[in-house]
Amino acid sequence: MDDITRPEHLRSQYDTDDKLATRTSVWQPTDDGRDPSNEAFKAIDRAMTGDSDVLEVGCGTGAMAERIAALPGVTLVAIDWSDAFVELARARGVDARQGDVCYLPFEDDSFDVVYAGWMLYHVRDLDRALAEVRRVLRPGGTFVAVTNGDDHLGDLRRETGGRRMVLNFSSENGEFTLGRRFSDVRRQDLETRAVFVDREQAQAYLDTLDEGLVMPDFEGPRTYTGHVTVFEAR
Ligand SMILES: C[S@@+](CC[C@H](N)C(=O)[O-])C[C@H]1O[C@@H](n2cnc3c(N)ncnc32)[C@H](O)[C@@H]1O
Repeated sequence: MDDITRPEHLRSQYDTDDKLATRTSVWQPTDDGRDPSNEAFKAIDRAMTGDSDVLEVGCGTGAMAERIAALPGVTLVAIDWSDAFVELARARGVDARQGDVCYLPFEDDSFDVVYAGWMLYHVRDLDRALAEVRRVLRPGGTFVAVTNGDDHLGDLRRETGGRRMVLNFSSENGEFTLGRRFSDVRRQDLETRAVFVDREQAQAYLDTLDEGLVMPDFEGPRTYTGHVTVFEAR
């Protein structure tokens, strides 16, 4: 295995699925009913013509991988940095392996579609990761990537004294970054909603961020705004 050292903050986030599950549970679709994972799934489905090889990088617990693998004619493989998540994905029947998007253990031109959901913002050497994705994609293949905007939950962060997020792969810079490796980049922007039934649930969410943010008292429920972009690159 190539260099697969993980920064400590990622270990604390992804050595179990508790924090990710706490965060995922509060998200609701846009006012017109669009959910980012569903939109990414549709983009992946659209990108496939006949039997297709699909790679998911940073698969987490494997929920999306399981969904994609159930599509007719799909052969799917998924990788994730976290051993625990690889085990959880395997328990769903997904062909999941431990790996780093910067060192993909696959031959050139192996896949018709590569999917990266909310993971590129963790990658320190983004240029290397995208070069790897491009290398393993067949000519004409599609890369689908989902990420957040810098103002994702900006209202909640402002209210709790948090710093504005600046992601290395975001709604704001994603199109430009992907454009360095792909000639055709499309985007769909979604304004999602985080709904907290009470202060306790909001604080539980903040605690997963490990930033020491404290939610002022409030009578629930409360809604905050998410900014998510689904990119399709060829
Ligand atoms: C926010 S989670 C998203 C998981 C999943 N895609 C989802 O949408 O639920 C980020 C995932 O990326 C993985 N990850 C982070 N950096 C990675 C890297 N360089 N290579 C592979 N996986 C990585 C983490 O272990 C984690 O499972």
